[in-house]
Amino acid sequence: MNAEILDELKKLLTRAYAPYSNFKVAAIIRDKNGKLARGVNVENASYGLTSCAERNAVFSFVAGGYEKPAELFLYSETEAFTAPCGACRQVLMEFDPNLPIVLINRNGNIKRVSISELVPLPFGPKDLDDAK
Ligand code: THU
Repeated sequence: MNAEILDELKKLLTRAYAPYSNFKVAAIIRDKNGKLARGVNVENASYGLTSCAERNAVFSFVAGGYEKPAELFLYSETEAFTAPCGACRQVLMEFDPNLPIVLINRNGNIKRVSISELVPLPFGPKDLDDAK
């Protein structure tokens, strides 16, 4: 991860809309050409409608017509690394079951994981082939 990405994540984090939890999360998906798709968590007064940073980044990635994802960067100003929630793991797997994920905490420490580690027995696009 380079300093440029961390700067981008810090800037992005200020745009998170998290008035209820006050837990802000920023996600950037870099595609194979270096293009960046961004997402922040967006909460709602109807709490269950909250949308996580990771899923918002995926939707922006798709809408932006980006090429295959190369890496996901996830940043939160916490001591512990923030990992994607279960729903986001499923959505992140869709386009690359081996997507590399870089978790970054408030000290700039890094932990690398892959989506396949986070979802050990996945259900994905191929599973639908059996029903065709
Ligand atoms: N959240 C994310 O955006 N991504 C995660 O990886 C974990 C949780 C958000 C959802 C909610 O707005 C807040 O963090 C607290 O759960």
